[in-house]
Amino acid sequence: MKKLKVGVIGTGYIGISHIETIRRISFAELVAVTDVNYDLAKRRANEYYIPKCYNSLKDMLEDDEIDVIHNCTPNNLHLEVNEKIIKAGKHIFSEKPLARTSEESEKLLKLLEENKNVIHGMNYNYRMNPLVQEMKYKVKNGEIGKPILAHGSYLQDWLLFDTDYNWRIDPEVCGPSRCIADIGTHWMDAVQVVTGGNIVEVVADLAIIIPARKKPKSQVETFSIVNASEYEEVEVKTEDYGAVIFKMDNGVRGIFCVSEVSAGRKCYFNFEIDGTKASLYWNQEIADQMWMGFKDRDNKLVMRNPILMTPEAKEYTYLAAGHPEGWNDAM
Ligand SMILES: NC(=O)c1ccc[n+]([C@@H]2O[C@H](COP(=O)([O-])OP(=O)(O)OC[C@H]3O[C@@H](n4cnc5c(N)ncnc54)[C@H](O)[C@@H]3O)[C@@H](O)[C@H]2O)c1
Repeated sequence: MKKLKVGVIGTGYIGISHIETIRRISFAELVAVTDVNYDLAKRRANEYYIPKCYNSLKDMLEDDEIDVIHNCTPNNLHLEVNEKIIKAGKHIFSEKPLARTSEESEKLLKLLEENKNVIHGMNYNYRMNPLVQEMKYKVKNGEIGKPILAHGSYLQDWLLFDTDYNWRIDPEVCGPSRCIADIGTHWMDAVQVVTGGNIVEVVADLAIIIPARKKPKSQVETFSIVNASEYEEVEVKTEDYGAVIFKMDNGVRGIFCVSEVSAGRKCYFNFEIDGTKASLYWNQEIADQMWMGFKDRDNKLVMRNPILMTPEAKEYTYLAAGHPEGWNDAM
């Protein structure tokens, strides 16, 4: 089998995870990176022994050796960069959210319809976690009866202070939704994958908790502590918090909340699916454990264990039970 040659655009926070993940795939070879910050791309190329470092996406697209491009740029570039990759006939793996608005997403889907030779995927990585897959197959095999309710949250604290700043605060870059688009879509994706339905109706309360923030005059790294002495005060226009009540087309009803201002919560992404016979609960911060709840017998804590998992979910895991697998592995 021919090895797939891969390029990565955007070598910031998530770009590193893509670089490391690609290097773990036996049939893929990471051959090039590019970033608008050329020095950063060069540094990554040196650190990871990546042979080519391009000045622009255009140069990367002209490289006939490259089969696949991973798009790890901020949200405002998902439409533009993905469009260019698809039109160049290269396969694509893009970061989430697909785009900033439904209109932008629709454009991309239409373009993919016209370019059926392009294989495409999006990095909703939590769905690849072995125990999320185990939940999916337990639901599919009828182990919890008919799924009826879904609830949970995704809480973080990285934007708690008014001195916390990132490109995600700017609606031009992030899009008109922040918390829901950034972390809420992960939550919805996982619940849709596990229950096998789509969310079709929503009502939401979205709130800006910190109305103004101090935007540093220098560039800020994602998830870093900001200590800028020079900043400008900017009005916040997107939600720090959101609560969503929803209905799915498979009859499941649910509720979740997301926040980037909950002190002490880092990536507290958790969800529970209640069925007519049993419930399942998973928290990504303790990714190797899943809780199963019953009315007519004792509840149990299930540990990720390839020997005992459903055959389908077993495909998503590789370490023996007891050796923790987590976020990077799922990706
Ligand atoms: N799947 C996940 O769990 C997950 C986690 C974090 C981020 N993300 C997604 O990844 C994307 C990037 O987020 P991040 O946190 O890594 O941001 P980041 O700011 O850390 O990195 C983005 C990189 O893109 C580069 N860039 C900006 N404009 C560019 C251009 N025109 N051409 C080339 N490079 C350009 C920046 O210089 C930076 O290095 C976002 O869409 C975000 O939603 C996904």
